[in-house]
Amino acid sequence: MIAPNLIQIAVIGAGLIGPRHASHVVNNAHAELFAIVDPSPTAKEIAASMETRYFTSIQNMIAYCNQNGMSYPDGAIICTPNHTHIRVSAELANYGINLLVEKPLSSIPEEAKALKNFAKEKNVKVLVGHHRRFNPFIVEAKRNLHKVGDVIAISGTWALRKPESYFKMSPWRTDNKTGGGVLLINLVHDIDLLQYMFGPIERIYAELLKKQRSHYPDADEGAALTIKFKNGITGTFICSDNVTSPFNFESGTGENPTVPFQNELEGFYRVFGSKGTLSVPDLHLFHQPEAVDDNTNSWLHPIEKEQLVENKLETLHSQMPFDLQLDHFVDVIRGRAEPLCSADDGMSALMCIDAVMKSVETGIPQYVEDIKNIIPDYEALGLDSDLRAK
Ligand SMILES: NC(=O)c1ccc[n+]([C@@H]2O[C@H](COP(=O)([O-])OP(=O)(O)OC[C@H]3O[C@@H](n4cnc5c(N)ncnc54)[C@H](O)[C@@H]3O)[C@@H](O)[C@H]2O)c1
Repeated sequence: MIAPNLIQIAVIGAGLIGPRHASHVVNNAHAELFAIVDPSPTAKEIAASMETRYFTSIQNMIAYCNQNGMSYPDGAIICTPNHTHIRVSAELANYGINLLVEKPLSSIPEEAKALKNFAKEKNVKVLVGHHRRFNPFIVEAKRNLHKVGDVIAISGTWALRKPESYFKMSPWRTDNKTGGGVLLINLVHDIDLLQYMFGPIERIYAELLKKQRSHYPDADEGAALTIKFKNGITGTFICSDNVTSPFNFESGTGENPTVPFQNELEGFYRVFGSKGTLSVPDLHLFHQPEAVDDNTNSWLHPIEKEQLVENKLETLHSQMPFDLQLDHFVDVIRGRAEPLCSADDGMSALMCIDAVMKSVETGIPQYVEDIKNIIPDYEALGLDSDLRAK
């Protein structure tokens, strides 16, 4: 039975993140979990535990709908390994199924551009799963940004240590070519947020961090970046998945059940402005509210520390970004909103990662290529003529 008025959503891929998305769909008042699709045997049990349909492939799901005279799901959340996003998404788009594609949109910009164009042709909406845009700590930081005056510089950190089991359970994570490595899996998230908050990045210089996992030679472990935004803001960023540190988004916001919440964490991002400094996720504003001239607004006078959002643990930590992103996806499918993180946004973040990689290779700063210049690779969609929906 299909509940009327509920948006039907399939979850494609049920590894680490897929079941989390699926449980958010189950608990959403406006959506229903149509099915879980994943060839792996454990996915069948996950589907059973959520009392939903299970298919080993998208083709099997489509065949089931056809045989039973049912509509295809309205949307799908693509939670498969990075290098498979485009083929899987194109297959779904071919049947008019709207897409929430986990980040990164792809590991290859040319493939992402082909998907964007194909989805448009099929009148399919694409939302990229940079869910941190919905994180209440980021929403509040963005809302309060003007309080620092002119933003001059930023600094950021995403640093922690992943366990060996993380790599063992999904070998695609150990090779940059399959979208593995910390730059494509994690840095891309922070890049998206930085562009969301401060505008497009123009130029990046990157140095790789010292490698410690010699048994995974093909996966980067982190980089130190110097970033120049188009509007003149400059910043630095350290990204590492192999140091002991709480200075990362997950620890600071508590949004990921795998990573313990550090309630008192301060400053994984710092925004330095002409009138103050904003620290995230703690949302402290350091400023001189009584300043009236060049003397009182200088090192000669004390700087006050103001808490911008009281009771942030209760008010912010309780709002889960995956739920907010899902609500938004439902609105996008219903035509009530445009994607907050579009295919263009996803490609733009990818082009920044591309600049990081090129800077590492060449040893010099790289301009970020305009997404308009990406030449789409339609072959990558993998749609043979016999696969095309009639
Ligand atoms: N937004 C976030 O915070 C977040 C967190 C984790 C992962 N991710 C992203 O989600 C995606 C999945 O990551 P993961 O860690 O869950 O990976 P994973 O390796 O744990 O799981 C991937 C699953 O996809 C299945 N799969 C592979 N090809 C498939 C296909 N063609 N059709 C159906 N299923 C298929 C695999 O069997 C596996 O179960 C990645 O793109 C990753 O970058 C996002």
